[in-house]
Amino acid sequence: MRIGVIGAGNMGRILARHLAKRGHRVSIANSRGPESLTALGAEIGATPVSVVDAAKAGDIVIISIPTKAVADLPRGLFANVPSSVVVIDIGNYHPELRDGRIDAIDGGMLDSQWVAQQIGRPVIKAFNNILAESLLEKGVPRGAKGRIALPVAGDSLDAKAAVLRIVDDLGFDPVDAGDLDDSWRQQPGTPAYCQDLEAAALRRALAEADRSRIAEYRAEREARIRSSIAP
Ligand SMILES: NC(=O)c1ccc[n+]([C@@H]2O[C@H](COP(=O)([O-])OP(=O)(O)OC[C@H]3O[C@@H](n4cnc5c(N)ncnc54)[C@H](OP(=O)(O)O)[C@@H]3O)[C@@H](O)[C@H]2O)c1
Repeated sequence: MRIGVIGAGNMGRILARHLAKRGHRVSIANSRGPESLTALGAEIGATPVSVVDAAKAGDIVIISIPTKAVADLPRGLFANVPSSVVVIDIGNYHPELRDGRIDAIDGGMLDSQWVAQQIGRPVIKAFNNILAESLLEKGVPRGAKGRIALPVAGDSLDAKAAVLRIVDDLGFDPVDAGDLDDSWRQQPGTPAYCQDLEAAALRRALAEADRSRIAEYRAEREARIRSSIAP
């Protein structure tokens, strides 16, 4: 498949590397332009491109940038991209640590619903709740004991099916986590968040989440990250 990756940081470069290794034709972009990605592209087997070209370069486009940066993407980025192209949002909103306050999300919109609104295009939420280190190292073949499961949420069954296949391809058990309106269950701090769970445990954790606690979950997660990086 042709896959465009927007964002070449911790997550974008790991996804691009693994996808290229599995034979996909991967393009990768960041905020500074393709020249800044020459060495990385050669190392991981991906083609450096502009953000505009990454959006046009795929059967699948992965958005792997900080949530606040989604508002800075070029206007109309996906306007001429066929509706069959699947857009994956891997982002997490971190208001205190990184993104600043986004009123719509603080007011109850889910992280990926806000992203979809910003880019004017439906998204599938996936890869947001596995840490970069686990994504880099812990993928294993289907059927392997202890295989980590990852949730995939979104409204289009066809788009979701494509992303479930990618998750499997990358070495993780794909779990259908419902519609985008269910994606709060995999947002920061929820019982399913970044726990490297197997499929049955992941399903239980998704079911256990409490919608009234979304903001609390997020705040707890940010507090844990803050204390883990405190000097
Ligand atoms: N790190 C993790 O373990 C992890 C796990 C799951 C999900 N996530 C989520 O995944 C997203 C990416 O995280 P990360 O850790 O990979 O971030 P990161 O290491 O900070 O990398 C961010 C990338 O986004 C690019 N970027 C920023 N603004 C951009 C713009 N306007 N246009 C194009 N590219 C832009 C940056 O490019 P420049 O360097 O050129 O500015 C950089 O390549 C975040 O939402 C994060 O919460 C992270």
